[in-house]
Amino acid sequence: MRTLLLASGALLLGSMSVAPWAVSRAQDAPLVQTVDVAAERFSFTPSEIKTTVGTVLTIRLTSDDTAHGFRIVGSDVNIEIPKRSRGTATVTFTPEKAGRYTFECSKLCGAGHSFMRGVIIATEAPKDEE
Ligand code: CUA
Repeated sequence: MRTLLLASGALLLGSMSVAPWAVSRAQDAPLVQTVDVAAERFSFTPSEIKTTVGTVLTIRLTSDDTAHGFRIVGSDVNIEIPKRSRGTATVTFTPEKAGRYTFECSKLCGAGHSFMRGVIIATEAPKDEE
């Protein structure tokens, strides 16, 4: 399944031929990972996301109650998560180096607003074997 996804991703990059890096990455397509995260007063589930450096991480955010926000500290990711049943907010984030990236709610949502946080943990990707 993962192979299939990667293959279709490479095809997409190849057919778009927009940027030189896209072409040069064709044989070495970036890993992609999608995570669904649910927000509710006053937590994110899951609140810990594990990934690897260089992975294109797509986070699909929904709320189980009111509108929340999703901000990754130190990045330009900051989006509003619509109220329950009003849809999904999607962001992508690619960690450039290993470490812990804190995310938090960025929209005032009640007394526990400042407790709504979590972390993306990026570890070094295993080296390719030639
Ligand atoms: Cu959720 Cu502020």
